[in-house]
Amino acid sequence: MTARLPADQGGLAEAARLLRAGRLVAFPTETVYGLGADATDERAVAAIFAAKRRPRFNPLIAHVPEAAAAFALGIADERARALAAALWPGPLTLVLPASPGCAVALLARAGLDTVALRVPAHPLARALLSAVGRPVAGPSANVSGRVSPTTAGHVLEELGGVIDAVLDGGPCAVGLESSVLDLSGRAAVLLRPGGATREAIESVIGPVALAEGADDAPRGPGMLASHYAPVLPLRLDASAAAPDEALLAFGPAPGGAGLTFTLSGSGDLVEAAARLFTGLRFLDAEGRRRGLLRIAAMPVPQHGLGLAINDRLRRAAAPRDHVPPSGG
Ligand code: TXA
Ligand code: MG
Repeated sequence: MTARLPADQGGLAEAARLLRAGRLVAFPTETVYGLGADATDERAVAAIFAAKRRPRFNPLIAHVPEAAAAFALGIADERARALAAALWPGPLTLVLPASPGCAVALLARAGLDTVALRVPAHPLARALLSAVGRPVAGPSANVSGRVSPTTAGHVLEELGGVIDAVLDGGPCAVGLESSVLDLSGRAAVLLRPGGATREAIESVIGPVALAEGADDAPRGPGMLASHYAPVLPLRLDASAAAPDEALLAFGPAPGGAGLTFTLSGSGDLVEAAARLFTGLRFLDAEGRRRGLLRIAAMPVPQHGLGLAINDRLRRAAAPRDHVPPSGG
């Protein structure tokens, strides 16, 4: 049984108690729901990998309520401090060299000498992290390789019966994951585009490099790990859709599709990001129910949150055969 905890003092207290006891509790952040566990507890962290059926020990983000707590775990340089001041709390994850004696379990760091740190902006998440008083490891609360959950209902569809509880904070405002920025080397590298735009990051620390796979450069399909995958195949750059297709529309939707979900009728990237995973889930489930053959996604401009939206769409469209799901 997975308890659905309300967003009140009682729900928060119970979620914090469970986490401190080494249990798994999904919690809302402004990006997506995280599958939380005490990041200092190796067994609790191992339980995350088991619950998500994550095929390998991909490192996890440690969530803390404020920058001071983050910089006790990772060594911050000037760039990290400037970004924290400008963009935390918020949808930005910093990968820093782990501090000596970093409390985050080695398993959560996948044995690396770096640590990924994030101060989420969601008030419920911050209250929970303060109440737990320890860093909380939190990958997205989905089965590995599937679409990240943006409501408590999604979490229960994914992991109901497998985890102890979900703290229900309603739908997530940003709707896709945090940007992951690696500051452990001399050059800042954007490992994953996400809720904090490249433009916002660059306005604080200057140019950042895009990791291979994070940009829109053409590359062999084998280089794209399938991820965020619906069951139906996904066709990109669709300008029209057929009656046997479910259309993921951006801007005015052309007619003719078997089913349509509009990310943003006005072409607003913030609205589109917030609705992306809900839309993919809806088209996948309802499209299959109606016997449709694939999802067709209209093009989204490659700036602002469009970078992250296009990254997730490309991964959802990547061939699934012979490509083990990565991340999760
Ligand atoms: O918005 C988010 O980031 C959500 C919410 C719950 O905070 N979390 C999330 O976690 O998306 P996850 O595990 O699904 O993605 C974390 C990403 C992975 O791509 C992982 O490889 C990368 O961060 N990562 C974590 N630690 C790292 C490290 N030390 N070095 C490089 N990459 C790291
Ligand atoms: Mg994930």
